[in-house]
Amino acid sequence: MASGQHADRLLGESPAFMEILERVSQMAPLNKPVLIVGERGTGKELIAARLHFLSSRWDQEFIKMNCAAISETLMETELFGHDAGAFTGAQKLHRGRFERADKGSLFLDELAMTSPLVQEKLLRVIEYGEYERVGGSKTLVTDVRLIAATNDDLPDLARQGKFREDLLDRLAFDVITLPPLRTRPEDILILAEHFAVNMATDLGREYFPGFSADARRLLQAHLWPGNIRELKNVVERSVYRSQDLDAAIEVISLDPFDSPYRLKPRVSGTSAAALTALSDNTPSNNPGPDSPARPEFPMDFRQAVQDYEVGLIKTALATHQFNQKKTADALGVTYHQLRGYLKKYDLFEQS
Ligand SMILES: Nc1ncnc2c1ncn2[C@@H]1O[C@H](COP(=O)(O)OP(=O)(O)O)[C@@H](O)[C@H]1O
Ligand SMILES: [Mg+2]
Repeated sequence: MASGQHADRLLGESPAFMEILERVSQMAPLNKPVLIVGERGTGKELIAARLHFLSSRWDQEFIKMNCAAISETLMETELFGHDAGAFTGAQKLHRGRFERADKGSLFLDELAMTSPLVQEKLLRVIEYGEYERVGGSKTLVTDVRLIAATNDDLPDLARQGKFREDLLDRLAFDVITLPPLRTRPEDILILAEHFAVNMATDLGREYFPGFSADARRLLQAHLWPGNIRELKNVVERSVYRSQDLDAAIEVISLDPFDSPYRLKPRVSGTSAAALTALSDNTPSNNPGPDSPARPEFPMDFRQAVQDYEVGLIKTALATHQFNQKKTADALGVTYHQLRGYLKKYDLFEQS
């Protein structure tokens, strides 16, 4: 993605977000480990950086490592380093992240992905500031503030024996839980404008013409399962796809895979044939990105779901000459379940 050259500023005015900033300011000066919890894309890495830069360690190293990105063995040497000749291929001494982050902060992203051995070593560094390089016998001392992040439920993993309880206790001196974007709707347009302006600049455009009212409504109604990262991608894509550089952006492309030619999911067994039969009979069943099939918000969710179910059942009935047994098979429900739906939706005269 573009916009790499823009400094990542933390934006937001929602009460939930302001409260987080307040907590961060409060915790930054403490010399204790911090755990940042939140769904993917909620800004955990930016919050970690803010904790570091608001602390007295701000002029020292801020070192990051993503524990999900490397193998267990590598993780150990990456964190703690290894001595020369520690293992085949380790000719030179390697300084680990704890060594390089001395006097500074170390950000461990995706902490739940650490192995039991690494967790054991982490516990010791947190408690005593001590560790050994892999293959080394000398005990090293380090003064590092640990900031960890996860989108897993660590207490639950600890209960299942998949994460060390004592490490969790140590790390969870205090926990910052980042709110998902859907719980802070006030921030959506602020963030969207910001990402759009940056993208327009990256594209060499003179200005960003804004979003149309419909586009703004859609941005606010979407639930953003990928949170701010998703919003950023969607906004950047919508800006770069827009053709008329002077017109407000109308089309928000939520899904880059959206296309009239989109491949269908693979399904197995009898239901595959049924699904194909259902979706191939009319071209309008395969809406394009701008088609009116995009839901309009606010909506009556229950009614929409019901309409969809009724539509599927009617199509399935018609496709199978109103044979209820075949229709039930085609829908992957039992004969009795189908009868239940027909009764519920008063569809018996259809069949
Ligand atoms: N409050 C915010 N203001 C501006 N940009 C943000 C904010 N929070 C997150 N971002 C941006 O969203 C993206 C995802 O943030 P990141 O910290 O990597 O999330 P996480 O680590 O929780 O997955 C990044 O591009 C980041 O710059
Ligand atoms: Mg992250």
